[in-house]
Amino acid sequence: MLTELFTLNGEGDGDKIRRAAACIREGGLVVFPTETVYGLGGDATDPRAAEKIYAAKGRPSDNPLIIHIASPADAEPYAVLCPLYERLAAAFMPGPLTVILPVRPSIPRSVTAGLDTVAVRCPRHPVARALIAEAGVPIAAPSANLSGSPSPTCASHVAEDMNGRVDIILDGGDCEIGLESTIVKLEPDGGLTLLRPGAITPEQLAPFTENFRIADAVLGRLKAGERVLSPGMKYKHYAPKLPLFLLDGPLAARLSYLEQQEGKCAVLCYEEELAAFSRLPSCVPISVGKQSDPSALAHRLFYLLREADKGSYTRLYAPLPRPDGLGLALYNRMIRAAADHIIRV
Ligand code: TXA
Ligand code: MG
Repeated sequence: MLTELFTLNGEGDGDKIRRAAACIREGGLVVFPTETVYGLGGDATDPRAAEKIYAAKGRPSDNPLIIHIASPADAEPYAVLCPLYERLAAAFMPGPLTVILPVRPSIPRSVTAGLDTVAVRCPRHPVARALIAEAGVPIAAPSANLSGSPSPTCASHVAEDMNGRVDIILDGGDCEIGLESTIVKLEPDGGLTLLRPGAITPEQLAPFTENFRIADAVLGRLKAGERVLSPGMKYKHYAPKLPLFLLDGPLAARLSYLEQQEGKCAVLCYEEELAAFSRLPSCVPISVGKQSDPSALAHRLFYLLREADKGSYTRLYAPLPRPDGLGLALYNRMIRAAADHIIRV
C-alpha cells in the first residue's frame, strides 16, 4: 500500500483534511494528530475498518478501540449517556479523557471486541476535530504504533511503524501531552473506575463521585487469575527494545549505583541532575526537564524511549516518578515499559 504524507503547515490544510476524511468514509485508514498521541483512524461504524486497524497495528482483536467524536453529545447514537457523563464532558471535553459507557448496536462488535461497553473520546486537537467533523462518522482509533511499542508523538515516529500500512498520515507536528488519554469506566452504582491514568488526574476526577476507584493494574502487574477490566492492561506495552531499568532512590545512591555499571548506558534524568550524571564516564545523560514539571517528562517520554533504541547503548535507566497527579500516568507507563524492573537504591 502506498502511504501519502500530508504535512499540515497552513497551506491547503482544509483540502488535505477533506481528502483524509473522504478516505475514512471510503473505508481507508488515516493517521492523525491528537493532543495526547497520534491515532490510527478508521470509520467506527464499519466492521471492516476495525479489522484493517487491528491488522495494520498487529494488534490482537480482543483489545477494543476508542471511538473519537467531534463533540460530547455526538456520542448519543453509539453509547448510552447519563448525567455523570454529561458532567465529565462539561468539565474535560474536548480533552484527554476517555469514558467507557454501555454500547449501542450501531457500533460493530469488532470495534468493542465483543464487550457490552464502548470507549468514547472527544479530542481537543484542531486537526482531529476537523477530521472527525468532516468525516461525519465517529473515528475508531488506537495509538498509531505497532502493537507493543511506545505510542508515537511525532509524524516521523508514526512513519517508522506505519509506512505502507495506512493510506494517509496527517503530520500535525509534536503532540502536546505525549501520553495517552485518561480512561474511566462509569459503573452502574454511579462510581468511577480509573482504568488508565493520563493528563486528567485522579485528583481532578475524584470529586465527581462518592465511589472513585483506581484499578489495581494501574499501579502494577496483574496478579495471576485477576479479572482484567480493560483488555489492554494485560499486554506488554510501550517497551523500547533496549532493556529499561527504573532507579528509585536519592541522587547520591543512583549515582553510585551507575558508577559500578559497565557498558555505555543512556540515563534519563531531571535537568537539575544533569551535571552530576555527566561526570559518570559510561553514562550519556538525557534531560527530561525539571522534576517539578512532570508534563515535560510526559511530553518527551515516548519520544525518548524510541530515540534511545537508535543509539548504541547497552541499557537505559530512568527515574521512578512519584505516583500522584500526572506522575501516576508516568509511573504507570514507565513500570510497564520497564516490565517492572525497578531497582531500589
Ligand atoms: O489518547 C488516546 O486515548 C489515544 C488517542 C489516539 O486518542 N488512543 C489510545 O488508544 O490510546 P489505544 O487503543 O492505544 O488504547 C485504548 C485502551 C486499550 O487499552 C483498550 O483495551 C481500552 O482502551 N479500551 C477500549 N475500549 C474499552 C472498553 N470498552 N472497556 C475497557 N477498556 C477499553
Ligand atoms: Mg496504544
